[in-house]
Amino acid sequence: MGEQVSSRGTWSGRLGFVLAAAGSAVGLGNLWKFPYITYENGGGAFVLVYLAAIVMVGLPVMMAEVLLGRRTQRNPVGAFRILSQGKRGHRLWPGVGVLGVISGFVILSYYSVVAGWTVRYIGLAISGRLEAMAVHPEALQTFFSGFLGSGAQQVLYHTIFMGATVGIVILGVQKGIERATKVLMPLLFLILIALVAYSVTTPGFGEALTFLFRPNFSQLSRGAVLEALGHSFFTLSLGMGAMLTYGSYMKRDNSIQKAAILITFLDTLIALMACVVMFSVIKSFDFEVTKSAVILFTTLPTVFAKLPGGSLVSALFYLLVAFAALTSTISLLEVVSSYAIDELGWGRRRASLTMGGAIWLFGALSAVSLGANDTLSSINVIGRSSTAGVFGTLDYLASNWFLPVGGFFIALFTGWAMNPRESRETLEEGHGPMRAYSFWHFLIRFAAPLAIGAIIVSVILGVEYN
Ligand code: TRP
Repeated sequence: MGEQVSSRGTWSGRLGFVLAAAGSAVGLGNLWKFPYITYENGGGAFVLVYLAAIVMVGLPVMMAEVLLGRRTQRNPVGAFRILSQGKRGHRLWPGVGVLGVISGFVILSYYSVVAGWTVRYIGLAISGRLEAMAVHPEALQTFFSGFLGSGAQQVLYHTIFMGATVGIVILGVQKGIERATKVLMPLLFLILIALVAYSVTTPGFGEALTFLFRPNFSQLSRGAVLEALGHSFFTLSLGMGAMLTYGSYMKRDNSIQKAAILITFLDTLIALMACVVMFSVIKSFDFEVTKSAVILFTTLPTVFAKLPGGSLVSALFYLLVAFAALTSTISLLEVVSSYAIDELGWGRRRASLTMGGAIWLFGALSAVSLGANDTLSSINVIGRSSTAGVFGTLDYLASNWFLPVGGFFIALFTGWAMNPRESRETLEEGHGPMRAYSFWHFLIRFAAPLAIGAIIVSVILGVEYN
């Protein structure tokens, strides 16, 4: 028997890990941010660049994170502490894990606020109020601004979402996270398939496909390439040890490479399906899509309202977004909790309640800071938003600094500090001789640090995206 780590768990099997990790990856990034930036960057060519970034950078870094977690069976801090023992800079490497835990804390605090909006919208859609308001786009705008400005409401829905998140994480890896994702992910997929089937019947479907899959490279700016790269990172939940933590619960008889390919494929498929749905309905009407990230909460309901069965479609749609967000928030909380469990020796109950409570409190700060109208145009969860208010500042810090810097060092550590014999050994457990090892090793040593380095430099130089 190896060293017993209290309160740690494992997935029941391969499917448990893949669904939980896919649940982490599929979130607001897929359903909100991706369609929105694809739209702004002119479609097809951007999609191609994004796919390249996913395969060349996202996938290898995901394998690296899962590898670090599975090898050590620890949270991000513990993983770096164990693996850097006896190596140069062994006192600094755990700092990468610390940065990851802080990122999880920060991202969850505001992610949960936005996720709370979907809960509000499910209620609105079911009661028919959303459809009633959506007939007059200004009414919906006014409602949305008022909703953002109401501190009490913002805190209420944030509380509901954090409550659900803590409620799942407290039950543990198998009984909480795995069980929840095994229900939510198939449901999410079913709803999305239903919505895609629906979008086929809308007049804008063909135009949407052309827009998405016919590349027009003259549309592509240098900023777009960087944005695609940055997003490939966020959408796969990389750079802060979320995949590392989930990997630490993975049994040794499963192939990391196969699981990572499946997770990446699911994440990309769902992002593209979301685009098909949203662009089909938007292109069905001559809608002026404003350059704002609030498309999901203002433009889309207006469009849904014009379609037959609008209330049902929009209720399903917001339910989908809520499920996707919930499987992401639990992964964010799990990173922070696993740190408290492994490193501080806390029990799971105490860890999830205390950390969840602290994050809730911190998030309440962004929730009440949303009021200002200028926030409306700057909200861009996980994007390069401007730095308006607590909300914008946190998002800016996390997605532009914490995640790229974390990912950069994760790639450097796995590619350069770790002995190739160790990384190969872990990747070959449950897989057998790995033919793609050298290719992976090349990508993690050179391609990933270079690409992520380019993002960081561009942030430092203040390169604008659009
Ligand atoms: N990937 C999720 C999304 O696309 C967000 C997310 C969940 C995340 N966990 C993460 C991002 C960890 C970075 C790190 O919405």
